[in-house]
Amino acid sequence: MHTKLIARSDMETILSRVGLDALMDQLIDRLREGFSTADLAHAQIPARSGLHYHSPDLGLIEWMPANLKQGKASLKIVGYHPTNPSKRSLPTILSTLSVYDTRSGHLLGLLDGTLPTALRTGAMSAIATELLGPPRDGLVLGIVGCGAQAVTQCHALSRLLPIARIVAHDRNPQAAESLSQRTSFLSIPIEPVAHGQLTELLEASDLLCTCTSEDPGRGPLFPDFANRPGLHINAVGCDFPEKFELPVELLRRSYVCPDFREQALIEGECQQLQPAEIGDDLATLLRDPEAARAQRERLTVFDSTGHAYADYLSALLFLDYAGEMELGTDIGLECIPADPLDPYSFLNPSARKDSASACIQESGT
Ligand SMILES: NC(=O)c1ccc[n+]([C@@H]2O[C@H](COP(=O)([O-])OP(=O)(O)OC[C@H]3O[C@@H](n4cnc5c(N)ncnc54)[C@H](O)[C@@H]3O)[C@@H](O)[C@H]2O)c1
Repeated sequence: MHTKLIARSDMETILSRVGLDALMDQLIDRLREGFSTADLAHAQIPARSGLHYHSPDLGLIEWMPANLKQGKASLKIVGYHPTNPSKRSLPTILSTLSVYDTRSGHLLGLLDGTLPTALRTGAMSAIATELLGPPRDGLVLGIVGCGAQAVTQCHALSRLLPIARIVAHDRNPQAAESLSQRTSFLSIPIEPVAHGQLTELLEASDLLCTCTSEDPGRGPLFPDFANRPGLHINAVGCDFPEKFELPVELLRRSYVCPDFREQALIEGECQQLQPAEIGDDLATLLRDPEAARAQRERLTVFDSTGHAYADYLSALLFLDYAGEMELGTDIGLECIPADPLDPYSFLNPSARKDSASACIQESGT
């Protein structure tokens, strides 16, 4: 029995053969189709949970399981360590994805979750923005927080919406300045702005993505502001109890669409709202696009906390590509015994005898 191990080199081959734009388009299509049609009410997708700690630095390791009752389940393990870029030259988000056979529990596939997380987070924002964003050309996209997620927010949104320019702010000026180089493949002009011009950025934006690593208890990122008509905001960075990016006054005058209502009430912008102040979730809006489009003239917010079903679909996309391209390594990872009632029977009889006598010699008996 084998597990398909997708190594970094396989991911690299998939990306170079498929191309970044085609991969993002494919993922957007699968997520849109999946969230429009899946029976999420009967799926097993608990709000994520995990280990939260403040030492040695603030961080968490969480698990995000999804069982769509289609014979496979996925589990994403995701770490959030915002000191990683400055202290360890590592991404803030590090993650792995595993896919299981729900008939047996056998591990079918194991792959990176860091890239799929960034891709699907951008893709989910793009799908929400396509539904709720203002139907105008020449859109100005404001970005607050110019780290890893900002790259895929810009990329995914540019695949579905006519973005004319991007205005970007980060409390770390180097991050804001380097965003144009990291997204140069989009050929969209990017203007980095300092904190003093943040209100101008907010007031000029038709679309806004907040994707910061602001600490819990320190938000919001800015006070309420005079938004352009029909502004749509993707609030991406708020995914931790007590962590907020947006001011509650702004949320209260918005139509707020969570990705995952139950989870957003615990760790999204929805923490700041009463249940009656929250709109339909993305899957519900996708099934009734007319109702969603009716909200387009007003201020709208997509409260993105990260959905395990999006991870499930991303994992399957990469496993499908690996299958088509005959990539990945089949490894015997689990110690499957010849006799299911004897855990030692995966050893061949002579190795079993040798290891038993080695133990006897070691113990001197
Ligand atoms: N919603 C989701 O599905 C999802 C998925 C992945 C990551 N996230 C969240 O998105 C956030 C960003 O993730 P990332 O991988 O881009 O992290 P990152 O560390 O690469 O980038 C975060 C950036 O935010 C900046 N920042 C922090 N506080 C700021 C503030 N007050 N004003 C302006 N800039 C500020 C930092 O300087 C940094 O450049 C994190 O909070 C992460 O947990 C959400």
